[in-house]
This record gives sequence, structure tokens and C-alpha cells, in this order.
Amino acid sequence: MNSNRTLKIVIIGRGKVGSSLVQLFDLAGIFHQLIGRDTLQQQQAVPLADIVLLTVPDRDIAPLCASLTQYFTAGTIVAHCSGALGSDCLDSAASLACHTASIHPLNTFPTLSTAKATFATLEHGSHAFAEGSLDALNVLVPIFERLGFDTSVLGSADKPLYHAACVFACNYLTVLIDVSLTTAVKSGLDRDLFMRAIQPLVQSTLDNIMQSGTSAALSGPIARGDSETITRHIECLHDHAALYKALGRHALQLAIHRGDLSSEQIQHLSETLDD
Ligand SMILES: NC(=O)c1ccc[n+]([C@@H]2O[C@H](COP(=O)([O-])OP(=O)(O)OC[C@H]3O[C@@H](n4cnc5c(N)ncnc54)[C@H](OP(=O)(O)O)[C@@H]3O)[C@@H](O)[C@H]2O)c1
Repeated sequence: MNSNRTLKIVIIGRGKVGSSLVQLFDLAGIFHQLIGRDTLQQQQAVPLADIVLLTVPDRDIAPLCASLTQYFTAGTIVAHCSGALGSDCLDSAASLACHTASIHPLNTFPTLSTAKATFATLEHGSHAFAEGSLDALNVLVPIFERLGFDTSVLGSADKPLYHAACVFACNYLTVLIDVSLTTAVKSGLDRDLFMRAIQPLVQSTLDNIMQSGTSAALSGPIARGDSETITRHIECLHDHAALYKALGRHALQLAIHRGDLSSEQIQHLSETLDD
């Protein structure tokens, strides 16, 4: 394999991630070619590529890889950017002695403009998590670090748990805020007003978590051992009571870890939060 500067990198998939990654390749001065669905372009570009990076939706990765096998040569690095899938979905390329991997930029890009804006501020710290064959990782990881990502390698079998962790931190944080807004509306408040009102609360909670850790950042009735308040919440929540209790049981573990609660308070809280 040649040095990074002379590597031929072909990115297939002109969506949010593909189009945004090329900004970084441009900034880093790494030669690349971004192509889309044009099969003639794919036929011409792939046989000459050292690295083929598939930035297509998860469901399209394995079929696209299989459709390109006739153009891969032994030793080509074939990778994708999915967080949920491992490199095993590129087995059709691996069976031709290609080196396969996945490298997941850990960020959220709901739209093309947010993707481009997020990648434009990459110097503020963004992480990519990679797994796959060592031959592929030895080339891909230094390239992504040149693009500006801090990069870590994880075990291929750990990919589903890794992605579940990402879903908790990103998607379910969004869900929690939505549940908060829905609950505020039920209490008679305006959704937009409450959204603005909780912004400092959400931001300072995130700041506290990042500075001090989850256990130290926990405040509120469970941290104070206030089971009467928890009971009042559960009585009025109806549809969201089960979610509240499930999260409350995890909050109780954090509070116990902090060591501020008496055994009596822990017992009352456990009974109140029981299924
Ligand atoms: N968005 C995120 O927040 C995010 C974050 C990290 C990682 N990822 C991962 O990055 C990958 C790409 O996601 P994305 O959000 O960039 O998707 P996207 O915005 O939906 O773009 C996917 C692109 O792939 C193209 N495409 C689909 N099938 C193709 C094929 N057979 N040949 C060539 N191009 C094809 C689509 O073309 P058409 O428009 O013509 O369908 C579209 O331009 C996924 O694996 C995803 O899991 C996404």
C-alpha cells in the first residue's frame, strides 16, 4: 500500500456523511473521489481504488458491496461508516481478499447542512470508532486522524452494544426532552415556552455530567431520597409512569453509588419505583 498522499480513495454515497467527509478530505489535502449511483463511474473508479468507503444507508451497504465485487482487487480496503453494522456486512469483499472495516464518525447529522456544519467544527473534538481487519485499520485510522477525528478501535462483536450506547446518548436524550415537553403541555404550559425555559437546565446538566460524572451530576428527588414526591409524580404521569419508574430505578443506583442516602430511604425509593 502506498503512503496516504498517493492513496486513491473512492467514496460512494453522496449523502450527508459522504458529502461532509469530502470537506475534510479537501481540508486535509487527501486526494479522493466522491461518486453516487452512476454505475459507469463506479466501474471506472473502483478497480483503481486503494480504499472504497461506502457512505450509503445501512440497508444498501451489503448489496452495494456485493454489486461491486467484480471491480475489487485483492488488497483493496473496503469500509463503511455505519454505527450499527460491523465489517461482516462486507464479507462479499473479504472473500476476495479485500481488507474490510467499519469506521463510524460518532456524531448526529439529521440534515446535510448540520452534517457540513458539524464537520466544519471538527477541531472542537469528534470521535470515530472503528473495527475490522488490522490491514484495513492500519490505513484507515491514520487517515481519519488526519481528517481531525480522535479514533478508537473496538472489537467487532462489541459493535451492537457500542451502537446501543450511542442510541442512549443521542436518540433517547432527544426522546427524554420530548417526554418532558409533552408532560409540560399536559400541565397546561406552552411547548415552545417550556422548550426555551429548560434550555439552561439541560445545558447545565450536560455541563455537570461532563465535568463531574453522572453520579455527581444527579440532583432532584431521588438524589434527596424524597419518595413522597416520586409517588406524586407516578400518580399523575399515567402513560409515562412506566418510563419514569424504569429511569428512576437507574437514578437510584447512581444515588446509592454517591452514598448520600440512608438504608431506609433506599428501601422506600426501591418500593416506590418497583414495577
Ligand atoms: N446521518 C448520521 O447522523 C450518521 C452519523 C454517523 C454515521 N452514519 C452512517 O453513514 C452512512 C451514510 O448515512 P447518511 O446519513 O449520509 O445517509 P444519506 O444522507 O441518506 O445518504 C446516503 C446516500 O447514499 C446514496 N446511495 C444509496 N444507495 C446507493 C448506491 N447503491 N450507490 C450509490 N449511492 C447510493 C443515496 O442516494 P439517493 O439519494 O439517490 O438515494 C444518498 O445520496 C450510513 O451507514 C449511516 O449509518 C450516519
